Amino acid sequence: MAIISVSLVLVILYFMSNSVSAEKHSAFFIFGDSSVDPGNNNYIKTIPENQANYKPYGQNGFFKDPTGRFSDGRIIVDFLAEYAKLPIIPPYLDPSADYSHGVNFASAGAGILSTTNEGQAIDLKTQLKYFEEVEKQLTEKLGASKAEEVISDAVYFFSMGSNDYLGGYLGNPKMQELHHPEEYVGMVIGNLTGAIQELYEKGARKFGFLSISPLGCLPVMRALAIEGGCFEQANSLALAHNNALKTVLTNLEYLLKDFKYCNSDFYNWLHDRINHPSNYGFKEGVNACCGSGPYGGVYTCGGTKKLTTYEICENADDFVWWDSFHPTERIHEQFSKALWDGQRASVGPYNLRDLFFDIDKLTIAEIVDEIPENENIL
Ligand SMILES: *[C@@H]1O[C@H](CO)[C@@H](O)[C@H](O)[C@H]1NC(C)=O
Repeated sequence: MAIISVSLVLVILYFMSNSVSAEKHSAFFIFGDSSVDPGNNNYIKTIPENQANYKPYGQNGFFKDPTGRFSDGRIIVDFLAEYAKLPIIPPYLDPSADYSHGVNFASAGAGILSTTNEGQAIDLKTQLKYFEEVEKQLTEKLGASKAEEVISDAVYFFSMGSNDYLGGYLGNPKMQELHHPEEYVGMVIGNLTGAIQELYEKGARKFGFLSISPLGCLPVMRALAIEGGCFEQANSLALAHNNALKTVLTNLEYLLKDFKYCNSDFYNWLHDRINHPSNYGFKEGVNACCGSGPYGGVYTCGGTKKLTTYEICENADDFVWWDSFHPTERIHEQFSKALWDGQRASVGPYNLRDLFFDIDKLTIAEIVDEIPENENIL
């Protein structure tokens, strides 16, 4: 008798959780740089270094033609959309984009600070202005209350800051004269915090953050390191940024009601794969698959940049790095999995699955995971 009623409860929970996840489709809004740009820069006037809509980008054929993604195929947000049961999230500037499941504002070269690569990318401030446009369109299309629901239910994902430290600071002697490193990190984090607060005031509640990678170990930076190995100053800036972000997010969680977030330790996660590629199914962690010069660190992949010739590896799946700056699709996929339901040690306090499918309902789904063993009791 007791066994039957427990099974019955599980069956009810099973159908409840199925119907919940079937109808629930949180929208996905993305802010960022080349790490998550799905092709916005195809529509702006910029330098070839900030575009990737030519071969061999996208060569693995998941998309028929190069889309503008800085990868041999998909990028993190493509995998995350799939896991969240959403279609591919379109670039905001694509005239045929359908915003009903969210939209991607990311732009290669963009910084959190407007002074970073000024005039060559869509900075964070402009990306936020574009979000306001989308908000208006949603309100017109769905009415105010439904639009508010979409906005509070959506997940807001940020992958940005690398360009502020590379081109914006290390590549900009004037900026280094104006600001000490710690002051500069404070400015970057201050502006990012402002963006989070602005979205929160508009009703956003669920946030995801891709922390900054070991910037000094990018093939482009490794090639510049006179001492050999990674470019330590760049790594220090990345670590300082990630530490400051962690503190800010902990504070916001106390200060802002219902603010939920997923942060990630991309720095150590990627560092591990760079140093021990074979532990993760890679053959090469240091050199880029596509580029030229030492470590493939001369940014020539595709040949439309300063130099017209470049080298390309046989199998990008063996490599951590696709080009001088950007990882391969395989890295994007592995990291997406970690963000989605990975270990709390490198992702948290919530993972993205928690945020897309709501914590309380997930608890039901976890109970239901036990069901197959109970089925024969019935
Ligand atoms: C945002 O960045 C600008 C420089 O681009 C700086 O003057 C300002 O102080 C920053 N804001 C915050 C809140 O840190």
